[in-house]
Amino acid sequence: MTDRGSGKAGTAEAWGRTVLVEFEDGIAWVSMNRPDKKNAMNPAMNGEMNEVLDALEVDDRCGVMVLTGAGESFSSGMDLKEYFRETDDQPRMVQVRARRDAFAWQGTKLMNFAKPTIAMVNGWCFGGAFTPMASCDLAIAADEATFGVSEINWGILPGGNVTKVLSQLMGRRAALYAIMTGIPFDGRKAAAMGLVNESVPLGQLRARTRELANVLLEKNPTVLHQAKVAFRNVEDMSWEVALDYLGAKNEQGILIDPERGRQQGLKQFLDDKSYRPGLKAMKRKGSAPSS
Ligand code: COA
Repeated sequence: MTDRGSGKAGTAEAWGRTVLVEFEDGIAWVSMNRPDKKNAMNPAMNGEMNEVLDALEVDDRCGVMVLTGAGESFSSGMDLKEYFRETDDQPRMVQVRARRDAFAWQGTKLMNFAKPTIAMVNGWCFGGAFTPMASCDLAIAADEATFGVSEINWGILPGGNVTKVLSQLMGRRAALYAIMTGIPFDGRKAAAMGLVNESVPLGQLRARTRELANVLLEKNPTVLHQAKVAFRNVEDMSWEVALDYLGAKNEQGILIDPERGRQQGLKQFLDDKSYRPGLKAMKRKGSAPSS
């Protein structure tokens, strides 16, 4: 990476050639930044995204990470020229590296990111872009965004784990329809199918995303991370194993949580009677009470 942003609050700064980062009150807004190419993910972007995620994970200015795209696109998917055609004739090891960089940030790194993540789908979202979108914990789209599982239109099945994420997020009929027809659909439909949590008019997208991020910022970050990792892991476990794992995970949380949130939560509700956990988050050390 040539140019690491200093991350002054409120200004989007370039991290390398293909990513923008803006810090704002606990939120790191990370934009894929190749607007001329509809933010197609090329090898440079995949490499830089790995570095950005590694850096933000240990950066106190990032309490919640929002992934979005510069300009009118979220991302038009993998770069058909630089990621596919130009690596076709490269030595095998070059291809292996290009694939590894892409799969690392778009899947594993995002899914296990130590802080909450929100995909803010502001426009075009095609093919390979479904993987980072789905790997974020939550997703909000503009009503006007255009989604499409377009691989069938240019002659491949949806790899890069797009098919896998669709099988997890969408119903069978809707997923196969999207995969087999490649017909685009808008943000409202994406929300109705459960691909994103909700859609709002484009003009409200950033404000709504900020609102959601602020809800997450009120929660205990140790427990948030544990909760998302646990959710992903229990998917493949039997009832009994999940029960045991979740019990152990909770005990681990009690041991590692620097805020001692569990004791605090019980005290504030049972002794201080200062809040109702059914209705809002407890007051965390140093935080303003949530309204
Ligand atoms: N890979 C590489 N280049 C891409 C790209 C991609 N996925 N998506 C867009 N671009 C490039 C175009 O080639 C064009 O480059 P140029 O200016 O050098 O000619 C530029 O971005 C603008 O795209 P253009 O097609 O002219 O914009 P548009 O507004 O008419 O259409 C899209 C936008 C997103 C509908 C169209 O670009 C598209 O279909 N892209 C491919 C989407 C796709 O199938 N992705 C799946 C990848 S797995």
